[in-house]
Amino acid sequence: MDHLIGLLLGTEQDWPRAFETLIGRIGPIRGRDGVTHRLDTTRVSIEPFNLRDKPRHDLVIDRLAYWYYHPREWLKKIALMDDVYLLNSPFTFQSMEKHAAYCAMMRLGLHVPETVLVPYKNPVDHAKWAYTAERYNRPFDLDAVAEALGYPLFMKPYDGGAWVGVSRIADSTALHAAYDQSGERLMHLQQAIEGYDVFTRSLTIGPETMVMKFRPELPMHERYAVEHDFLDATVGDEVVTISRLVNAFFRWEFNSCECLVRDGVVHPIDYANACPDVALTSLHYYFPWAMTALVRWSAFCVVTGRRPSLDLDTARYFAVADDPGLDYRGRLAAYRRIADDYLAVEEYREFCDTALPHVPALVAEWVTSQEFDDLLVDTVRGTYPPHEHDRFVAHFRGLIDLWKRETLS
Ligand SMILES: Nc1ncnc2c1ncn2[C@@H]1O[C@H](COP(=O)(O)OP(=O)(O)OP(=O)(O)O)[C@@H](O)[C@H]1O
Ligand SMILES: [Mg+2]
Repeated sequence: MDHLIGLLLGTEQDWPRAFETLIGRIGPIRGRDGVTHRLDTTRVSIEPFNLRDKPRHDLVIDRLAYWYYHPREWLKKIALMDDVYLLNSPFTFQSMEKHAAYCAMMRLGLHVPETVLVPYKNPVDHAKWAYTAERYNRPFDLDAVAEALGYPLFMKPYDGGAWVGVSRIADSTALHAAYDQSGERLMHLQQAIEGYDVFTRSLTIGPETMVMKFRPELPMHERYAVEHDFLDATVGDEVVTISRLVNAFFRWEFNSCECLVRDGVVHPIDYANACPDVALTSLHYYFPWAMTALVRWSAFCVVTGRRPSLDLDTARYFAVADDPGLDYRGRLAAYRRIADDYLAVEEYREFCDTALPHVPALVAEWVTSQEFDDLLVDTVRGTYPPHEHDRFVAHFRGLIDLWKRETLS
């Protein structure tokens, strides 16, 4: 049985090359059903589509729809009409931006910082705005809102990403300046988690989660620290649970989650990233892990015929949230069971052991090959100005060497 995996891409070249190479080498896979499955990849092009067209793809990995609406609508069509497997539900990623994700995770009892949504600063471009605003927009005291939250605080768009429009506000002057600047963007004011012990950014692909120590104050290539054991076992597990919970709840299987850990309390602050950063120059040491997970999860989904599930099943989670007999730890444990069940953790592990036992060696061989080094050099050349090429090639080779030493010894 043949399966085609579509890649809907933006400007990136690094991980698609990696993914295509690995899928190209994975070979025939024997499913539980005894059938031999073959995988192939293709890059999705953008063209008119009839809503009744039958796509060739069994699964599509999307990196574009968060800003390009024509392929976004194609994703919705192939999800609704053709049961194509998508790692992230395009429906929830459109409707459950940051704001809705904060609400849902607050409802589930996570330690989301206090957050207020303030009305638009500038008039909304709509014929009915003036009348509605005059009648119904109550004047409000921005300073009072901020003081109730306490300084410093963060002002950030209710949706969006890449730090656009995000500012740390220390006082009333900065508050008004930032609000004036916000213009037509809808903004949250959010309590700042200051003096945190660790900033974690976890990347989750299917049922695999890598919790990484993140240093947002450093340049991109240094943000992910290569450190193991930087969280105690309980907190580490809690971060994994939160990452999987968010994903299972919204039907996302390729997403990153940011949590700030302070005095043993885990505060999730950002966890709706439809197009998580998987650049070789960001993930470096963790890049082989990410590619392994993406290849294995995609293979698992198509070979086992995993059905995409567009319905959210929120009642199951809310029943746990509303159970007075459960404390925070009890709730987390219950969410973890639901999430692990949805993400087919057990079944996936078994599949990796029995149908894909050769993949770790395949990845190791590729990472040690000239081809991988070429990819690294090309990526550095495409990312940095010429005078920095040597320095960054050496930097990333060093980190990949570290991965090889730790993984292959
Ligand atoms: N409540 C908070 N407490 C402390 N720091 C915060 C808080 N909210 C945001 N930050 C800081 O601001 C940064 C950007 O905020 P956030 O992640 O919400 O925006 P973003 O646009 O999604 O950024 P990115 O796409 O890089 O993740 C965070 O990485 C963190 O350093
Ligand atoms: Mg963020």
